[in-house]
Amino acid sequence: MDLAEVTRMYDFTGRSIVITGGAGILGGEIACALVGCGAKVAILDRDPALADRLMKRFETSIGEAIVVYADVLNRESLLKAEKVVIEAFGRIDGLINSAGGNKPEATTGDRSFFDVPEGALRFVFDLNVMGTILSTQVFARRMAEQREGVVLNFSSMNALRPLTRVLGYSAAKAAVSNFTQWLAVHLAQEYSPNIRVNALAPGFFLTDQNRYLLTEKETGALTSRGQSIISHTPMGRFGTPEDLLGTVLWLMSPASAFVTGVVVPVDGGFQAFSGV
Ligand SMILES: NC(=O)c1ccc[n+]([C@@H]2O[C@H](COP(=O)([O-])OP(=O)(O)OC[C@H]3O[C@@H](n4cnc5c(N)ncnc54)[C@H](OP(=O)(O)O)[C@@H]3O)[C@@H](O)[C@H]2O)c1
Repeated sequence: MDLAEVTRMYDFTGRSIVITGGAGILGGEIACALVGCGAKVAILDRDPALADRLMKRFETSIGEAIVVYADVLNRESLLKAEKVVIEAFGRIDGLINSAGGNKPEATTGDRSFFDVPEGALRFVFDLNVMGTILSTQVFARRMAEQREGVVLNFSSMNALRPLTRVLGYSAAKAAVSNFTQWLAVHLAQEYSPNIRVNALAPGFFLTDQNRYLLTEKETGALTSRGQSIISHTPMGRFGTPEDLLGTVLWLMSPASAFVTGVVVPVDGGFQAFSGV
């Protein structure tokens, strides 16, 4: 192997990649990296205007991006989005299931475990688990027909090491990890060994979905929980969206051609640390 071969592996020119929740903090950064490496990226979100902040960043990139409305909990809207993507790009080589998140009401703390509302739990399960499965049913069908493709799911450190209070999200992300393994085996055995399915398990990235748990609203100072996370992270900081990019490009590219069914922690060492 030489530098030219490594560069070729990470050249996404002509490859078409769909990112659900692609206007979000992590999905948006991933979209920019893939477009920067030549990919044609379809940013799907239920509020496409959220992607406006990204458009300027694409102007100097070698790839291209389109923004398409899709609600990952609505199969009709996913099918419509798929039609738009196929009309624009002709094929789908990759899917990144980034739509997901938590809800304060699905945690304990302000309420006991016994009083966590069913509706909040169902919301978090639906968004993370059903949203991932429904999107994959719609977009990976193309990969099954083409007999090649790559799917990347978003699990979480909560799936591997459930955090106190975080009831619904931990269980839902554990289901995403399980689905990742199941689908990797299913697609390889039933359709093609050239369809790979993996997941990321990000550690703690300060974003809108967890800001209320990790920082004080008024001062922005770390809560005791935020402090506890930092002291359990050997690298001593929260992740930034850019910290995910190397792993994403590796898993979406032929550089990981023999890797399927894995959940890769990107966590500054959180999982490895026993606390002592
Ligand atoms: N941030 C972290 O520390 C962390 C850690 C581990 C895993 N993750 C996972 O990483 C992924 C991306 O998270 P993020 O931090 O980038 O969160 P984010 O900024 O909230 O991005 C998620 C995006 O998904 C969209 N979305 C929500 N519901 C949707 C639906 N029904 N259909 C389509 N799009 C929908 C959101 O739109 P709205 O803004 O309109 O809701 C948002 O644009 C999520 O799966 C999250 O669970 C994050």
